Amino acid sequence: MLATFLGRHPTERTGCLSRGAGLTAACHVQIQPRRAARLPGHEQYAAGVAQAVAELRGLISSRHQLILVGTRDEAGLRTTAAETARLMQLPLWEWDASNGLRVPGTPTQTNTRSIDQALAFLRDLGRSALVVMLDAEPLLDDPVAVRLLKDLAAAPGGPTILATGLGPPVPAVLEGLAVPWVPAAPDRAQLAAVVQRLRVTLPRMGLRMDVTDPRPLIDAVLGLTPAEAERVLLQQAVVDGRLDDADAQAAQRARAELLSEGPLDLIDADVSFADVAGLALLKGWLVQRARGFEPAARDFGLDAPRGVLLTGVPGCGKSLVARAIAGSWGMALAALDTGRLHGSLVGESEGRLRQALGAAEAMAPVVLWIDEIEKAFSDGEQNDGGVSQRVLGVLLRWLQERPDGVFIVATSNDVTALPPEVTRRGRFDELFFVDLPDPLERQAILAHHLTARRRDPGLFDLGTLAARADGFSGAEIESAITSALYSAYAAGTDLDTTGLAAELDRTVPLSATRAEDIAALRRWAVGRARPAGGSPPPAGAPMAP
Ligand SMILES: Nc1ncnc2c1ncn2[C@@H]1O[C@H](COP(=O)(O)OP(=O)(O)OP(=O)(O)O)[C@@H](O)[C@H]1O
Ligand SMILES: [Mg+2]
Repeated sequence: MLATFLGRHPTERTGCLSRGAGLTAACHVQIQPRRAARLPGHEQYAAGVAQAVAELRGLISSRHQLILVGTRDEAGLRTTAAETARLMQLPLWEWDASNGLRVPGTPTQTNTRSIDQALAFLRDLGRSALVVMLDAEPLLDDPVAVRLLKDLAAAPGGPTILATGLGPPVPAVLEGLAVPWVPAAPDRAQLAAVVQRLRVTLPRMGLRMDVTDPRPLIDAVLGLTPAEAERVLLQQAVVDGRLDDADAQAAQRARAELLSEGPLDLIDADVSFADVAGLALLKGWLVQRARGFEPAARDFGLDAPRGVLLTGVPGCGKSLVARAIAGSWGMALAALDTGRLHGSLVGESEGRLRQALGAAEAMAPVVLWIDEIEKAFSDGEQNDGGVSQRVLGVLLRWLQERPDGVFIVATSNDVTALPPEVTRRGRFDELFFVDLPDPLERQAILAHHLTARRRDPGLFDLGTLAARADGFSGAEIESAITSALYSAYAAGTDLDTTGLAAELDRTVPLSATRAEDIAALRRWAVGRARPAGGSPPPAGAPMAP
């Protein structure tokens, strides 16, 4: 695993004793502070650099000349590259679209602003070097640049290119030539180092540091790069002149804003399984799966739970269950907005998905909710130039890699629009079909929503009402209760069985207007998905695998 770290760390690195250059090679980076005293967090920073450099050296030594780096932490990548270049005695170059190609700290090489010019320059250089290319995705649109990159990647003794924006996963045209490399997002220890450093740097800026328990602050910035985390915490300190325990919530909001620039939203998981009526088989399965997060489960030989795909009739509680999982398990809930996934530039959609998945990983333990997952694979255009396939590739590979601590809840209203690879066994732990509630479930839904509106369900004839709500979804039952309450309020009476039954009779449920669609959904589900509703097995009985 690689580490990412602060780019503008006020120290400089000197000396590294490298023992071998394999992926596991230990590299001790000795960081000598400019000032006499080392800043707190120094050890975590040094460990992060050492680990990252060791991995990169391993890749370069095993003759990989095109490394596709998946990170948002450009500062961290630059630091790793600079240190690696120094240790391996390689000249270091950097390229980005605005600055062109240059040795850091020197003027831009003439005529290297466009990516094919830069690549041609590197080809003509004809010697080994380490080149960091930032945001290289426009390259995929340029056949000349692709050709040059392929030539460079295959030329022995030529430069090694570290590119961001191209993968992972490796785009099809670079298959076999490029190796993907995903530096790990910073862990709690590295973010703790950021907080520790602020103990020294804030007073120097005339700000106070009154944090007694740093853990909530660290949790609040999980998922950010160290540089982002520092900015967010500094921002909180500047607001009232001090950073203290009460700033965790505001820091969390600032993080949500930062991350939601992408297609990921952090949302409040304000419901639990107690708010989901019926769906007993699904809830029973989830309760059992949650135990898979226990450390003892790993010793027992169980893999960490990975995720569930919920499909079914609209309004029957799929989204509710997604929120309830996070609420009941005490995990953060990150929602991937598939509508914000698709961009107009080549590689943009995949890039956004990769960024979102990386951010979710860094926020672990987290429930990642992908509502209407089918929309991720279509940008609404007939001919999308392979975007759907590439987005699908990113997601499938990610599902395969089983990132620990991220539980995915994907929901789908149109399973027929889903590529078969997604529903194939092994991608998700289980696929459930959420059907219209049965009579007992309808009673439970009625009771739940009456209670939620401060009515005693014991005063209602739930059996009769459930019969009148035949074919209703949970959402339709809830909205009938709301409408009946409005009518009762307007009439100056209270809600009773008669009033609610009348409202139910007036409602035409979706199952009547769209009977064929629902029948088709049910046919699809037979043999493919497990039913979410129904009674749980008797206590002690083993559940189906
Ligand atoms: N089983 C249930 N128990 C309690 N409330 C329910 C249940 N099913 C639906 N509801 C109510 O209906 C609302 C809408 O349900 P939800 O959004 O979860 O359905 P959905 O299956 O995600 O629908 P869609 O397919 O349209 O996205 C819920 O917020 C909840 O108030
Ligand atoms: Mg929904």
